[in-house]
Amino acid sequence: MNYKRSLSGIKPTGNIHLGNYLGAVQGFVNLQAQKEIKNFYFIADYHALNSTPDPKNLRRLTLDMFKSLIALGLDPDISTIFIQSDVPEHTELCWLLTGLTPVGLMERSHAYKDIISHEKNPNMGLLSYPILQAADILMYDPHFVPVGADQKQHIEITRDLAEKFNRIYGDTFVVPEPMIQESVAIIPGTDGTKMSKSKNNIIEIFGSEKEIKKQVMSITTDSTPLEEPKEFETCAIYNIYKFLATPSELQEMQDNYKNGNYGYGHAKIRLYEKILEYFADARRTLQDLDNNEDEVSALIKKGAHKAREYAHPKINQVRKAMGLGELNA
Ligand code: ADP
Ligand code: TRP
Repeated sequence: MNYKRSLSGIKPTGNIHLGNYLGAVQGFVNLQAQKEIKNFYFIADYHALNSTPDPKNLRRLTLDMFKSLIALGLDPDISTIFIQSDVPEHTELCWLLTGLTPVGLMERSHAYKDIISHEKNPNMGLLSYPILQAADILMYDPHFVPVGADQKQHIEITRDLAEKFNRIYGDTFVVPEPMIQESVAIIPGTDGTKMSKSKNNIIEIFGSEKEIKKQVMSITTDSTPLEEPKEFETCAIYNIYKFLATPSELQEMQDNYKNGNYGYGHAKIRLYEKILEYFADARRTLQDLDNNEDEVSALIKKGAHKAREYAHPKINQVRKAMGLGELNA
């Protein structure tokens, strides 16, 4: 069979949230069902180092993210699921691409501009972040990179670097396409802006019931009185609910908003119940994994082994193309 490859990564900088699931992981799980696609998904722990996390915390978040992806439906028998730092070839390829990357291109990246708007003394990792991301991607020659809309520019940079490399050193990398599910492009957080681990606005998938309830109840709403009809299109509660609810449940919430005598508190409780119902199986699977450290360690090893089977020959191909010696396995 003529396989296509898909690859994506997720940073272990906090607990997995609804935005990560709806904007990214759900798409990974759907791709996995397509037999003609080979999937690579990884936890980007090297990337997380830019925010200088506490070492113990980083390791815990990395393992939690690994388990979360499996609990949400990624299957280690079908996909290659691995931890980035188990494949040190990523950092080497990053260096090999650094000499091809204009400083100006990095300085113009939206993510970097965003960082320097509030960080006076940014580290080099934040500036060269897109080069490591390009290395993560190009290493596995994926045809698609399923990501949220915020990652579009990083994929464009990756494409530019792949094209430049191929022009200078000969055809080496597949030039990947971003795969963005426009319908779920940006999931709002509890404050109405993009839900993100780095902001205090997430709704977790694997938090305790109490935590999830607290997060849902903190969603910002306007002050329309209980009796009055409300706009559902602009309401963050509805805009999250719509991705989890069935069409008839959605119609019911729309009618409740339109009819009045339905408060935002009612809608929040409905959303909270829906989240627990939607993720009930995943939450159970995560608990099983939490109780089975040996199984998790074996899955991590298996993922690293499968990833390196691809990464090792690839790095040798790149070394050779650039005039460096090849490494033995
Ligand atoms: P975060 O912004 O929470 O740190 P990451 O940067 O690790 O999340 O993103 C992991 C994946 O989840 C990426 O593909 C990203 O585009 C997607 N993602 C993150 N937040 C959202 C959101 N609010 N809506 C849609 N997709 C999101
Ligand atoms: N930068 C991505 C994010 O913030 C995470 C990431 C790292 C990634 N390497 C990647 C995504 C490679 C896709 C492909 O979400």
